[in-house]
Formats: sequence, C-alpha cells, structure tokens
Amino acid sequence: MSKIVVNGGKPLTGRVDLKGAKNLVTKAMVAALLADTPSVLKDVPKISDVEVVSRLLELHGVTIDFDDAGVMKLDPRGVKQARMVDIDAHAGSSRIPILFCGPLLHQLGEAFIPDLGGCHIGDRPIDFHLDVLRHFGAVIEKQAQGTRMSAPNGLHGAKVELPYPSVGATEQVLLTSVRAKGITELSGAAIEPEIMDLIAILQKMGAIISVDTDRVIRIEGVETLTGYTHRALFDRNEAASWAAAALTTGGNIFVGGAKQLEMTTFLNVFRKVGGAFDIEDDGIRFYQKGEDLHPVVIETDVHPGFMTDWQQPLVVALTQARGLSIVHETVYENRFGFTEALVKMGAQIQIYRECLGGNPCRFGQRNFYHSAVISGPTPLTGADIEVPDLRGGFSHMVAALSATGVSNVGNVQLISRGYEHFLDKLGNLGADFSYSE
Ligand code: EPU
Repeated sequence: MSKIVVNGGKPLTGRVDLKGAKNLVTKAMVAALLADTPSVLKDVPKISDVEVVSRLLELHGVTIDFDDAGVMKLDPRGVKQARMVDIDAHAGSSRIPILFCGPLLHQLGEAFIPDLGGCHIGDRPIDFHLDVLRHFGAVIEKQAQGTRMSAPNGLHGAKVELPYPSVGATEQVLLTSVRAKGITELSGAAIEPEIMDLIAILQKMGAIISVDTDRVIRIEGVETLTGYTHRALFDRNEAASWAAAALTTGGNIFVGGAKQLEMTTFLNVFRKVGGAFDIEDDGIRFYQKGEDLHPVVIETDVHPGFMTDWQQPLVVALTQARGLSIVHETVYENRFGFTEALVKMGAQIQIYRECLGGNPCRFGQRNFYHSAVISGPTPLTGADIEVPDLRGGFSHMVAALSATGVSNVGNVQLISRGYEHFLDKLGNLGADFSYSE
C-alpha cells in the first residue's frame, strides 16, 4: 500500500471517529513501566507509533494485551533488561524511546536507548532530555548505536529549568521525577493538554504533582506507583486535520470524539479562514459555508498557542483563500518542506528566512526557512507526489483530494504513524482513490 492513485475534486462528507491522542497514548504506555501492578489504557489507536512502543515495552518484559476495541492492558511485573541488539532494531523508528530512560533507571538501574526517529521536520536534538536526566543523577554514555545510562546513586529530585517549553523534555521530567527521591521543581514547562492528561494518569498511579502558574510544575517523589485505568484524551491533531480536509474539499465532516476546550485556538483560526463548525456533545461538525475563504496570519507556538501540527493541513486550505496568508513556524525550524509538492500542484507559496509573523522567534537570525507566504486562490491540479512526513503527508493527501485530475501519492504508509485506519476513513468519506502497487 505504499502508493495510491487519487482522483481529486470531490468533497469529503461523512463521519470519522477519533481515538486517543498519539502524543499522549505512547507516553501513557511508557508510564505503565513505572508501576508494580498492571495498567489499563482505553481508546488506544492502531497506529505504527503504538506498535513500536509496544514492541519496545515487550522487549523489556512488559506483557501487552491489545484488543480490537482499543483497550490495552500493560503488565510490567516481569520488567527486565532488553538485549541491546533487539532494542537497536528499532533505531530510527520513533522518538518515544528517549522517554524510557527515567522509568528504566528506576526499575532496573540502567537503560539503553536506540538512536531516535520521528518526522524529519528539523534537527530534533535530545540535549534537553540528556540535561534533565543528568540533573536527576543519571550518568550518560553515548555509544556507537545509541545511548547508555546508569544511576549509580539512584535518581534524586532536582530544580530544572527548560530553555524552551519542550513537550518531550517536560514528559521526561515527569516520568523521571515521580519516583525520584525528594522534590523536583520544573520551570519553563510545556503545558499541552496531552501533558495534563499524562499528569492525570501519574496522579492515578500515586504521584504527587502540582501545576502552578507561569509554567512551573512541582513533583514530590514517591517510592512506589501502582497501575492506572485511564481513557486517553482525544487526538486534537487528527481532529484539526479532518477539519482542514472538510474546509479544503468543500465538504462536511463530523469528527466524533472531538471536544471544544482543547481546540479553542484552532477553532478561532478555522472560523477566521471561513470555516464553520457545530459543537455537539459527542463531537464537532466541520464544514465550509460555501463562501470565499479568507487569508490569515498564523504563528505556531506552544500551548495555548496555535499548534505546529495544525499548520500543514491548514496551509492547503489557505491556497484557496482570496489574498495573502502568512504562516510563521516558531516550533520547528524546517517544517515547510511539504509546500514543494503544493507548489508543484499549482499553489503560490514562498518560503522566507525572516520571522514574518510579527514576533521574532529563536530561528530568526539563523538560516532557517521558517515563514511562508501563501497567495490565493490558486486552482490545484493532480501531480506525482511523495509523502515526506506525518502531517505534511496528510496535507498532501488533502491537496490531492481537492485538486482536479489524478495524483499519484507515494509513501502513504508514513501517514499511518499517526492516523488510525487512514485510508478506510478516507474511503468512508467518499474519497475516490485506488491502490497502485
Ligand atoms: N528541542 C530541542 N532539544 C530537545 C528537545 C526539543 O532543541 O532536547 C526543540 C525541538 O527541536 C523543537 C522544539 O524544541 O524545535 C519543540 O520540541 P518538543 O520537544 O516540544 O517536541 P517533541 O516532544 O519532540 C511533540 C510531538 C510533536 C509535536 C511537538 C510540539 C510527540 C511524539 N511528538 O514532539 O508531534 O509537534 O511535541 O507540540 O509527542 C506530530 O504529531 O506530528 C509531531 C511531530
């Protein structure tokens, strides 16, 4: 299923149902490693990121039972050191392994993590993670194929300040501090809803965590944690993606499980562009009102700002807005690679090094093309395109589905890293496509 042929120009109409957020579920699975009794996680999507984390947990002796209703049982009672060669087979397939460090150091006294993967949207270093772990007392040694860590004197609470509110580094602090000796104070923390849900899970397990104002999180370490039962927060990135698909194709999609509170920033922008939505008890309906789309200026930011993961699918809609839109990407330095394919399909998009949104960001004085100017409306026509990464890939599919003519889209399996049953959902929404090879 690596290549599909899309016959574009048809509105997507119907219903999709969300499961738990990719960016929470995988971390919740790692949290189960910290307990001495089993955990139950509900609404787990069947996506490849979940598969990778499942395999890694199993290599470390965790027993996993995952049923078709999305209920996953994780039993950590047989936790053990994995063989380096087995772990290494997963090098490059996900970024989650870095979050195994704290739990493995607590459970086993040492950890080995493979070199990381994930989407190619910037350098994506792990310096914040390693600094954080050193603060807790970890000794880190870079080896040929990965990183080895030990904690000869155990892990102890620390005062940590992040140079940027990184989601992953905040999770690293949470997963390491909950069982570290003493108190941890984290400032400059990320406060995304997925992080709040992880905190809720850890609290269910017995952790003591308070979230103060101004991005400060305090954790009082406890000696042991027990398993949790939890229904994962819905995937707001997937919800925003389908919303953009409805808007761009002139369709109407009810996204079951989407909630307003975690999406208010997205909904404001969606409305400004000319999209309409009805908020219902069990989801949100997204549609186009049938009038011209309007240009907007967007700056991506950490929560509660406009999420970087919402930008790519929405840029396709902006190619159909009347006038000039600006998107200033301030989270990742290299997240506009996907626009090349849109230009090939007829879009007018220029990428700039300058900070064009109004607020200078940390990429401004460097050589990163991190601002985009989109001039519309421009009709899109089918083309041969390759999916570059998860969100960029979704946006390519939206472009192909709204374009006139046929597109050959390669590397489609990358999208299944984050969207459960992606092609089935598209089929149910009336998309016209076939498998090519
Ligand atoms: N950063 C560093 N050093 C580090 C860690 C991060 O410089 O040690 C930088 C990154 O390079 C980036 C910025 O800090 O420029 C923010 O990165 P962050 O750590 O917040 O991102 P992440 O934890 O690696 C998660 C999601 C991303 C999402 C970001 C921002 C997961 C598995 N991934 O990544 O999701 O874009 O937070 O919200 O949770 C996606 O779903 O497509 C995706 C890329």
